[in-house]
Amino acid sequence: MEKILNCMAVEIATAFQACGYDKSYAKVTLSNRPDLCEFQCNGAMAAAKVYKKKPIDIATQVTDQLKDCSMFSNVAAVMPGFINIRLNESYLADYLNQMKTEEKLGVEEVKTHDTIIVDYGGANVAKPLHVGHLRSAIIGESIKRMGRFLGYHVIGDVHLGDWGLQMGLIIEELRDRKPDLPYFDEAFAGEYPEEAPFTISELEDIYPKASKKSKENEEFKNRAQEATRRLQEGYEPFRAIWKHIMSISLADLKKNYKSLDVTFDLWKGESDAQVYIPNLIQDLQDQGLAYESQGALVVDIKEESDSKEFPPCIIRKSDGAALYATSDLGTILEREKDFAPSKYIYITDKRQELHFIQVFRVAKKAGYVKKDTDMIHLMFGTMNGKDGKPFKTREGGLMRLEKLVEEINEAVYARIMENRTVSSEEARETARMIGLAALKYGDLSNQASKDYIFDMDRFISFEGNTGPYILYTIVRIKSILAKYEELTNRTKEDLLESEGRILPAVGQTEKALMLMLTRYHEVIETSFAETAPHKLCQFIYELSDVFNKFYNSVMILKEEDAQRQESYIHLISLTKKVLEICIDLLGFEAPERM
Ligand code: ARG
Repeated sequence: MEKILNCMAVEIATAFQACGYDKSYAKVTLSNRPDLCEFQCNGAMAAAKVYKKKPIDIATQVTDQLKDCSMFSNVAAVMPGFINIRLNESYLADYLNQMKTEEKLGVEEVKTHDTIIVDYGGANVAKPLHVGHLRSAIIGESIKRMGRFLGYHVIGDVHLGDWGLQMGLIIEELRDRKPDLPYFDEAFAGEYPEEAPFTISELEDIYPKASKKSKENEEFKNRAQEATRRLQEGYEPFRAIWKHIMSISLADLKKNYKSLDVTFDLWKGESDAQVYIPNLIQDLQDQGLAYESQGALVVDIKEESDSKEFPPCIIRKSDGAALYATSDLGTILEREKDFAPSKYIYITDKRQELHFIQVFRVAKKAGYVKKDTDMIHLMFGTMNGKDGKPFKTREGGLMRLEKLVEEINEAVYARIMENRTVSSEEARETARMIGLAALKYGDLSNQASKDYIFDMDRFISFEGNTGPYILYTIVRIKSILAKYEELTNRTKEDLLESEGRILPAVGQTEKALMLMLTRYHEVIETSFAETAPHKLCQFIYELSDVFNKFYNSVMILKEEDAQRQESYIHLISLTKKVLEICIDLLGFEAPERM
C-alpha cells in the first residue's frame, strides 16, 4: 500500500497546484519538532525562491487550500514558511485498518523480482571462526531476509575460504603426525579410504599447530606451500585429503551457522572459482588490461575522479599463484553465468575495502558485469571487548563461536531462573531465543561500519535499547491478548473474523503508537536500500517505547466500553505483528513467555 508520507504528499501536491505552484514542492517528512506537529512540508521555502514571493505567503495559500481536507486534523503555516501538519484521527485509523488486512501488512513487493547475490559468512575452512565471521553472518542474514521480503530473488552464498595455504599446512602437519597414511605413499595405487584420517577436534588442533610451526620452521613452511601448489594443480592424493577436510569442517560449520539461525542457499567457495581462472587471465591479457609488472600480472584500476592512489589489482603473483582477487573475479564469472544478478552485496570487515574496490573495478572494466550492475561492499567495523580491543574470550583466547553463544545463553538462563516461573526445560529454549536476540540485536543496532563494544551485561538486559527489551514488549502483548481471550471467551480466530476495527485515537499515547506503526513500510524499504539494518532496529526500539507508554497510560483489560477495548486489542495485535515481522527480518524470534 502507498506509504503514508506519499499519501499526504499527493494531497498537498494538489493544493500547491491549485495555487499555481509546481507539485514537486509537496514533499512531506516527519516533523523535527514533534512538540508542534506530526509531519511537515518545507516546500514553500524552496518555492519562494522560484516564484519570488515570501515563503509564509505561499505556505498560507497552500494551507488555506487544505482547510477542509479530511486527511488532516490541522494544517498550519508558520514562520518563516513551514507547513505544520497533524493527521486526522479517522484517516489514521482507516490507514491502519487497511494495513492489518493486507498481506505483509501492506509492504509491496518489487515488480521485477531482480536477482541479488548476498555474499556473507565467509568462513575459512579448517580455521577457527572469528568475530568478523560472526558479524558477517549476522548482518548478511538480515540483509538477505529483508531483500527477500521485498520480493527480490535473493541468493545467499557463504563463499568459503577453502583454497588457501591452510590446506597445505594441514596436509604437511598430517604427514608429520601420520606418515603411514596412503596419501603420502607415492607408490600407492589403490582406493583412498572413505573415512577421514582425523576427527573435527583433531582438525581443530592440527591447523593452529601447523600455522605456528610454519612461522618457526622454514622447511615446514616451504613444504606447506608446495603441498598447497600441488593440491591446486589437482594432485590426486592431496585432493582426497582436501575432500575429507571439507566434509568434516562443513558439517561443523553448518552446525555453527544453524545455532545462529543463519542459512545459505549456496555453500560455494573459492575452490569453485578455480576452473574460471585460466580463461579469466587469458581474457584480461587479450583485452590488454593485464600486464606484467615486476614479474606479476596486474590490472590498473585508477580512475580520473580518484582523490587518492589505488594500487593495481594483482591477478597472478610472480610464482604463478592466483590470489584472493583472482578468485573473487572467477566467482563473479560463475555467478554471471548461473544467475546474472542485478546486484551484488558483499559483507566483510572494512579492512577488505581496497580488495573490493579492485575487484569491482576490474569486473566492470573487463565487462564481466554490466555497467549498471550494482556492486556493494557493506563493510563493518570490529567487535571489541570492554577494554576497547578486539573481542577475546574470558580465557583471552580467540573467540570460538559456540563458546560465545553458550556464554550468552548461560547468562540469560541464569537471569530467567532468578525469578523462575517456567520449567527449566522451557527456560533453556527461552534462553536460547533471548540469547540470540541479544547477540544479533547488539550487533545490528549499531551502524555496521562502526566498531562496537560487546557488552554482555548490557546486551542481555531487559531494559534499554536491547534485543531482550524488544522481545519483552512482544511477550507483554501476547500476554494481554491471551488474557483478553480468556476474559471475553473469544478466540484469536473469532477476533480475526469479527468486523472489529481500530477506532480513531482518543488518547495521546494511543495516537503516538498509531503514527509510529505507519512508518513501517518506509523503514523496511530504506533499511534494505541503504543496507542498514540498524535503521530497522531503531524503528522497533521506538515502536516498543511508544507501545509501552501506551500500555502504561491505558487500562486495556479494564476498559468498559467493549468496542473501544476491542479497538485497543486490534491495535496492539497489529503492533505485535509489525514487531514480529521486523525481528524476523533481523534474524531472531520471540518466545511465548519470558
Ligand atoms: N574468507 C574471507 C575472510 O575470511 C571472506 C570472504 C568474503 N567474500 C568474498 N567473496 N571475498 O576474510
